[in-house]
Amino acid sequence: MTVLSRGVLAIAAGYAALGGLTTISSAHDANEFKDGEGMDVVRTTCTRCHSAAMVTQNSGSREVWQLRINTMQSSHGMPAIDDTTESTILDYLETHYGQKTSSRRAPLSPHLMPANPYEIDSVND
Ligand code: HEC
Repeated sequence: MTVLSRGVLAIAAGYAALGGLTTISSAHDANEFKDGEGMDVVRTTCTRCHSAAMVTQNSGSREVWQLRINTMQSSHGMPAIDDTTESTILDYLETHYGQKTSSRRAPLSPHLMPANPYEIDSVND
């Protein structure tokens, strides 16, 4: 093995190790609730029937979360909770799993787009 290829291997191994570490430390476990006031109440109330991921992988406004709680109660047999517990849960969900703003980029300006090959006029010219 040449000195050069050994060097390349060492760099590749180092890169792989770093990549592996980054993946492990940056992966957010969907089954862990984000830390915050009310987390324990939410965990106790909302993980009796399904995993935390069912909650943490969703997002929405307070109204949306309210509707979801209503659905849990009307369709899935979740027992009634008192108003204080409900607002604690809603405060928590609204704060930590609130409505996401769009993650899509804005559309490209038309002058940056390639010519449309299916445009009737250009095809029939
Ligand atoms: C009594 C059982 C029960 C409890 C307690 C419960 N859920 Fe659910 N939940 C369900 C069932 C059943 C489903 C449907 C699962 C499926 O579709 O696989 C569900 C689905 C969901 C979903 C995904 C579907 C949707 O509407 O988007 C969310 C979000 C959710 N639950 C949030 C909550 C929250 C927040 C709480 C606590 C306030 C909670 N759940 C408590 C039974 C429960």
